[in-house]
Amino acid sequence: METQIFKKDQIDDAVKLLAKGELVAFPTETVYGLGAIATNEKSVKGVYAAKGRPSDNPLIVTVSDEKMMAKYAKEVPERAKKLIKHFWPGPLTLLLFVKPGTLPDAVTGGLDTVAFRCPDDQLTHDLIAKLGYPIVGPSANTSTKPSPTTAEHVYHDLKGKIAGIIDGGPTRVGLESTIIDLSVDTPIVLRPGEITPEELSEVLGEKVLINTGKVSDKDVPKAPGMKYRHYAPSEPVIVVDDPSDFAKIKFDEKTGVAALDSVLAKIDLPAENKFDLGNNLVDADHNLFGGLRYFDDKAEIETIYVQGFDEGEESLAYMNRLNKAAGGHHFNK
Ligand code: TXA
Ligand code: MG
Repeated sequence: METQIFKKDQIDDAVKLLAKGELVAFPTETVYGLGAIATNEKSVKGVYAAKGRPSDNPLIVTVSDEKMMAKYAKEVPERAKKLIKHFWPGPLTLLLFVKPGTLPDAVTGGLDTVAFRCPDDQLTHDLIAKLGYPIVGPSANTSTKPSPTTAEHVYHDLKGKIAGIIDGGPTRVGLESTIIDLSVDTPIVLRPGEITPEELSEVLGEKVLINTGKVSDKDVPKAPGMKYRHYAPSEPVIVVDDPSDFAKIKFDEKTGVAALDSVLAKIDLPAENKFDLGNNLVDADHNLFGGLRYFDDKAEIETIYVQGFDEGEESLAYMNRLNKAAGGHHFNK
């Protein structure tokens, strides 16, 4: 299959493909998603196949607005309404009970809940509104690889496996949406993202829990995807928590370093062994996956050192993804 690249003014062609049941990747403000009409079981199964994704890892359902979501949710609780009013369209995914019989089991992995997301991207809004149906939207990468933040990343992983890619340029945030579970008594963040637990708690006017991964499976449902190896290049990744530790590492031509430019400036390595994460944490969020992919594609690199940031609300999402890529491996810890 030849994978077509669509520009911003070719949305109608992409809609036609989706309506026929084909797979088309689309931009969002977080990362690129792999779209397929969510009500068509065969298309949804094609998404698992193209990504190589385990079939018990359910998919996000991407909608154009709250009205579309309401057709597939069993109910829209007050908490959801508050969050939607404040954060949609935007990088927040809501886990609600699904309205039975409205979506194939392949979408929900057979669970009684479903994850809804309404991205802040005009192109994608128009795409879904024109189609008239929600589209599933897992990140458009090969399973276990870092999520794609450019159309080129998607093409790299999925060329020949999907019908099209809508090129909306690099994504703004660079890390996937915050997922909050509203199907439980106390709302809980299952995956950290740009919208922090503190902001959610402020809007809801109540406590919001964070899934640390330490709670027992019986107590709190977790995002099933979290149990899989994720965001990982084929080489080992090591987190460097203290920037002064970079001076203690013995670098050679087989090591790659991804760090802020102020840190990189002090490291004596050829330019191709360095990946600049930018000037600050927001830049680093935006560039992390691109950096991991950069070294993944370099055959000569055997170890990748990546700058960590002090744990805190703002760095939760970055450290969550980086820790997964590193399998918990930290320098000097
Ligand atoms: O920013 C994003 O959310 C991106 C863009 C493309 O929208 N999408 C994305 O989808 O990150 P994906 O499939 O890569 O990650 C969705 C996560 C997975 O960890 C999955 O296990 C979890 O959401 N999830 C989906 N449905 C769920 C459900 N019913 N219960 C618990 N977790 C669920
Ligand atoms: Mg993903």
